[in-house]
Amino acid sequence: MRVTDTSDLWWKTAVIYCLDVETFMDWNGDGCGDLEGLAQRLDYLAGLGVTCLWLMPFYPTPERDDGYDITDFYGVDPRLGTHGDLVEVIRTAKDRGMRVIADLVVNHTSDKHPWFRSARASRNSPYRDYYVWRDEPPAEQTAPTFPDQEDSVWSYDERADQYYLHRFYKQQPDLNVANPAVRDEIAKVMGFWLELGLSGFRVDAVPFFLETLGVDGGEEALADPHQYLRALRSFLGRRVGDAVLLGEVNLAHEDQQKFFGGSDGDELTMQFDFIAMQRMYLSLARQDAGPLASALLERPEGSPDSQWATFVRNHDELTLDKLSDSERQEVFAAFGPEPEMQVYGRGLTRRLPPMLDGEPRRIRMVYSLLFSLPGTPVLFYGEEIGMGENLAAEGRLAVRTPMQWSAGKNGGFSVAAPSRLAGPVVEGGFAPVHVNVNAQRRDPDSLLHFMMLLIQRYRECPELGWGRFAVLEQPYAAVLAHSCTWDDGCLVAVHNLGPEPRTVPLSGFDASARLVDLLCDGSTAVAQDGSVEIVLEGYGFRWLRVAHAGDRRLL
Ligand code: GLC
Repeated sequence: MRVTDTSDLWWKTAVIYCLDVETFMDWNGDGCGDLEGLAQRLDYLAGLGVTCLWLMPFYPTPERDDGYDITDFYGVDPRLGTHGDLVEVIRTAKDRGMRVIADLVVNHTSDKHPWFRSARASRNSPYRDYYVWRDEPPAEQTAPTFPDQEDSVWSYDERADQYYLHRFYKQQPDLNVANPAVRDEIAKVMGFWLELGLSGFRVDAVPFFLETLGVDGGEEALADPHQYLRALRSFLGRRVGDAVLLGEVNLAHEDQQKFFGGSDGDELTMQFDFIAMQRMYLSLARQDAGPLASALLERPEGSPDSQWATFVRNHDELTLDKLSDSERQEVFAAFGPEPEMQVYGRGLTRRLPPMLDGEPRRIRMVYSLLFSLPGTPVLFYGEEIGMGENLAAEGRLAVRTPMQWSAGKNGGFSVAAPSRLAGPVVEGGFAPVHVNVNAQRRDPDSLLHFMMLLIQRYRECPELGWGRFAVLEQPYAAVLAHSCTWDDGCLVAVHNLGPEPRTVPLSGFDASARLVDLLCDGSTAVAQDGSVEIVLEGYGFRWLRVAHAGDRRLL
């Protein structure tokens, strides 16, 4: 590995862990998770192998959108702690080898934000132009993001006597980023948190605020809305050279390329691969690796400094909006047939393990797949122990239940009365008594230990973060065989998405090589004609390093 190639690009091989402080660990016993609780669990996260924490919004909020409605971009929600507590978290995480990034919400504020209060009160307010106003809502409108909650993205405000734009809840007025004063405010906010030690941001709803530039742009300098992303990235780079912008851009792959800045790589550092995620669920539902394989092959080439972030589950609905209607129905039928498992007509409110009926082999196969895909894996808290959801919680909140630390009261999250908790604890087969950190820490056969192994191997295989991806030919639809090659290393991963055992023939290897198993004991010799046969159980998987005589890699 050459220093000139890799130094500072820590995100290419990071393991990112998303958590909401509010539901992670309550240290003061008031029912709400807090920064001190998180600080107490940093050793656990470091032990898991996490290298970067992504904190969901921790800013003051009236909680219409679980913290994504912010009243002070510079503040810390007093329920979670203070700036001092946050600095302790950042410093301790750093000491344990972990970076911290946080949500940056550029698209909107809360309607309780002082800017909006002032803006709606008077047309002469200096903040009036911080938002997007119209006397009449335009004839052509984009659809609201939460269609069961809002009828329109324009709401009339009596005090302002005008309509304002809000792509999300009406309590989240969109900021007018076409206004240079707003862009300056956002830059100052970024600068502030970077000075406190953040290593970058997960940038919320990126295409939405770029669209606003289109709506209200007009300014010559921003004729191309992507200039704003370039400006954000270069500002970030000037302040902290190796900080990242991890963007939420749920668009078709070819459209995402623009958000990386194409081959220049000067816009978002990373983007979630929503397309591969959605096609992975289609593949799981069909037990056919084809949809996932084609999604990965269709990924546009970016700059070597850009990166895809891969994930199985995030904090929102498991969106299936980029599948066709019939494909989406297939996934619904397989994994969320009941109406309370679905939301917005496009997504599921479940976590993976209940969708797979808790079947351990299949759950492990999916996480093995996640960590073997080219890109940087992102975990949502609780995935490492196989947490389920609570469908009694409304919509997306079903998966934002308290972290399950022990079999005890409230899953060890809080000593408060259950009625005071930040969210309801999971019940039934995935309740804390069955699924918790304490038990799995002591069980070498647990999912938690398996995840630690995957993370360790992922970190040891830079091919996965850096390499060239190829799908290897083999005869079974249910099997994905792929390789990642980088420098002089090559890793082959074979996953069986179906329940039937398969013996998978692969070819094209150097006859002098061996394929050494990285997750378990074993190695397969390559035949004289360069072929191998890989035996897989139903839902089986193998990670194989192509090793040559005298190989000095860790095998
Ligand atoms: C993003 C977040 C989501 C939030 C929305 C509005 O999509 O992931 O949770 O509701 O933006 O901020």
